Amino acid sequence: MSRYEETYATWRRDPEGFWAAAAEAVHWYRRWDTVLDRTRDPLVAWFKGGVLNTCYNVLDRHIDAGRGEQTALIYDSPVTGTIQAFSYRELCDRVSVFAGALKRAGIAKGDRVIIYMPMVPEATVAMLACARLGAIHSVVFGGFAANELATRIDDARPKLVLSASCGIEVNRVIPYKPLLDGAIAQAKSKPGRCVILQRPQEPAMLVPGRDTDWHEFTAGAAPAECVPVAATDPLYILYTSGTTGVPKGVVRDNGGHLVALLWSMANIYGVSPGETFWAASDVGWVVGHSYIVYGPLAYGATGILYEGKPVGTPDPGAYWRVIAQHKVVALFTAPTAFRAIKRDDPDAKYLKPYDLSHFRALFLAGERSDPDTLLWAEGHLKRPVIDHWWQTETGWPITADCAGLGLFPVKHGSPGKPVPGYDVRVLDDKGREVPAGQTGALVLRLPLPPGCLPTLWNNDAGFQQSYLSQFPGYYLTADAGFRDAEGYVHVMSRTDDIINVAGHRLSTGAMEEVLASHRDVAECAVIGVADALKGQVPLGLVVLKAGVNRPAAEIEHELVQLVRQRIGPVASYRISRIVPRLPKTRSGKVLRSTMRRIADGEAYHMPATIDDPAILDEITASLRAVGLANTAGSEPS
Ligand code: COA
Ligand code: AMP
Repeated sequence: MSRYEETYATWRRDPEGFWAAAAEAVHWYRRWDTVLDRTRDPLVAWFKGGVLNTCYNVLDRHIDAGRGEQTALIYDSPVTGTIQAFSYRELCDRVSVFAGALKRAGIAKGDRVIIYMPMVPEATVAMLACARLGAIHSVVFGGFAANELATRIDDARPKLVLSASCGIEVNRVIPYKPLLDGAIAQAKSKPGRCVILQRPQEPAMLVPGRDTDWHEFTAGAAPAECVPVAATDPLYILYTSGTTGVPKGVVRDNGGHLVALLWSMANIYGVSPGETFWAASDVGWVVGHSYIVYGPLAYGATGILYEGKPVGTPDPGAYWRVIAQHKVVALFTAPTAFRAIKRDDPDAKYLKPYDLSHFRALFLAGERSDPDTLLWAEGHLKRPVIDHWWQTETGWPITADCAGLGLFPVKHGSPGKPVPGYDVRVLDDKGREVPAGQTGALVLRLPLPPGCLPTLWNNDAGFQQSYLSQFPGYYLTADAGFRDAEGYVHVMSRTDDIINVAGHRLSTGAMEEVLASHRDVAECAVIGVADALKGQVPLGLVVLKAGVNRPAAEIEHELVQLVRQRIGPVASYRISRIVPRLPKTRSGKVLRSTMRRIADGEAYHMPATIDDPAILDEITASLRAVGLANTAGSEPS
């Protein structure tokens, strides 16, 4: 039996004992009364009765243990030409003072603080300062528009918003402040105060009485001590796309989260304290929360905050430079980053000058890894390339090839086997398990392990409705796939309207809501079409109201702008097509998956219940005009 199999079997035999043993790695002010409380089943609580502080665990604790002078975080910013290293002591000092400033401003345990910032050290300081006080942070990714920020403000009702004057995208400055001002103007629940980090690239105008400059806010603040919180208290809320325009507020607790992340650093990523682990993501995403900030720091490793891109900052050798310069032992990123590098440097010439001898493994997640990219990365890096599967909701991997438990052979196209803690099943529509090799709904048998969401913010009913109701006793991942005969899981597609664009999770339903709000649009459908770089990109098909006779190009351009303004540039929404009708079943259901197949040039079956088959030819012609639908054709049913 391999170490992975032994560990999985140990967990299976006694899940609570397994996690109680893992919880010994955490510093507790008070130990838990119950490892797993199921009195509110199916809502569960890990380590109930336990008291701890996450910030103490990720900073102070390492100083007490003699790691104070070790580098905790490296800020590497090719877009500003900055490299800055913070030791655990320096980071702790900064965080304590910023927590003191928050406390002076009236922020206390349980208060919400929204962080809308680019990849600067202050964003991490802000997250950890909130954790220090037991305040709940909610980081909003900088590529979202004002409207998305407003929705999050209204749901989280923050006392304070922390932001910066601008972000920097390759060689462009993106002003953040107008987006923040727009969001607050739109929001029904107005935060009392905003603290703004003025960046020299583009300082912002401050609103008198509401906005304070970051440095003035911090000046003279007395360092704050760590506030003990319950293991079950929320550490953060992270909003993620749901099936409507209203994002879901995924809650992360303090206790289970730390237990899971500490276990994962050792056993999934196979990293040791003192080594450098790099998650090339953004603190606005779950990967950034778990593996730029909390995981590496809790573990006494060194994390990297990289403000740049895989290409263009300055070249496709950017990742190799960071790995070599900071002695990174494991890199975690989305496949799209490697597609970008491969596209710009197919022969990996930019890799040659760098010494990557200390580098051990590449981890990929966020979207399905295409075998071409995997093979390219393996061939050039000559290291294991490990695809692993997880979601914002779980906070850490569901399946992986656990590097710390001895790698098993990688199977291209599969993100590995279930990680101890996760019981992955495949069900048919009726909730019956299907045999190996057969595709169905990928679900997780309850209870979910520590670290996974205990609920949605202020919405237990919504949590149960979205995730636990379809198959009682199971958590619905909303991914479809299968397990093969050797136990590898294969994740094939989403079962809802979520698409993955450059590793970013977006709702086509939310985009449809935006398109439908345009004055000339009668109805619309947004589908995710294949893209060589980003995996998928959205495409809007719209039917105009009768009598509208403005030029199509004008309306299509307005629709692109509308999605940019309302959702944000991160949606990468660039193509709209005006069509005479949408293909529907006789009962009125829009045939989105047929249109997706047509756009991607895949063969499709003419749906038996289609009301008007001729429309598919018109859609094909319309998509061909923008370079899509190249080999599409219907197959006999
Ligand atoms: N703030 C403001 N705008 C942002 C932003 C931010 N933090 N991040 C992205 N954007 C903007 C971009 O400037 C771009 O705007 P544009 O349409 O005006 O050009 C748009 O959002 C789309 O950005 P992106 O998806 O990053 O596309 P890109 O073409 O600029 O870059 C990649 C493509 C593949 C290089 C990039 O997506 C990437 O580095 N991805 C890999 C890593 C990753 O982010 N993983 C996330 C989960 S692990
Ligand atoms: P997010 O919540 O943004 O992390 O997105 C989670 C979704 O991304 C999952 O539900 C999957 O659809 C997809 N995903 C993440 N990792 C993988 C992977 N390794 N393989 C296939 N899909 C993945």
